[in-house]
Amino acid sequence: MIELSPRHTQNCKFVHSRYAALRELPQKGVIAEVGVLAGDLSQWFLNHKKPKELHLIDVFYCDDFPGKNRFKKKQNLSFVKKRFENQISDDIVSLHQGYSWNMLSKFEDHYFDLIYIDAAHDYDSVRRDLKESAKKIKLNGSIVMNDYIMYDHLAKSAYGVVQATNEFCVNENWEFDYFAFHPNLFCDVILKKITN
Ligand SMILES: C[S@@+](CC[C@H](N)C(=O)[O-])C[C@H]1O[C@@H](n2cnc3c(N)ncnc32)[C@H](O)[C@@H]1O
Repeated sequence: MIELSPRHTQNCKFVHSRYAALRELPQKGVIAEVGVLAGDLSQWFLNHKKPKELHLIDVFYCDDFPGKNRFKKKQNLSFVKKRFENQISDDIVSLHQGYSWNMLSKFEDHYFDLIYIDAAHDYDSVRRDLKESAKKIKLNGSIVMNDYIMYDHLAKSAYGVVQATNEFCVNENWEFDYFAFHPNLFCDVILKKITN
């Protein structure tokens, strides 16, 4: 397990929620949300970040959050299409159906101001998402990792987000810009490239 050093955390700000951290980032940028499900965070991005473009990347074949029951996996794509039909016809929202790292690879390099990663949470998948995101983010852009936690104590499954994120920061020279708490410690971290 790779360890972070002070250079990866010395500028990190701690905030109480992911929304508090995301509010600090610039508005009107080009955003990718990687792992969308129903589009709940996508709606927040539209309302609060006023993106020039919002690219929603998902396999779109997943049941809704437990207890929500707005759709079954076969209706996942049509639910999101319907939810954002106005923004899709205004060319603000685009849907990209497929594996996250494949969909990210189709964009030009340095395309996004913000990439929010919340798709598959196993080590290999997160590593692939980070590798593609590093190519596709602008030089001063931000990559957000959701669920920065070792183990999902609700679903009882291991995550690889912490390992993949720390390894990425050490090997590729990125630092923590924000650490955002969550009531169940499914925390978010916002990463930026170390430039000096
Ligand atoms: C936790 S949900 C996303 C929640 C959303 N970001 C939010 O905050 O409301 C995770 C989503 O990732 C998608 N997903 C999981 N693995 C994926 C992969 N390898 N490629 C694309 N999407 C994936 C699932 O279909 C699911 O919709």
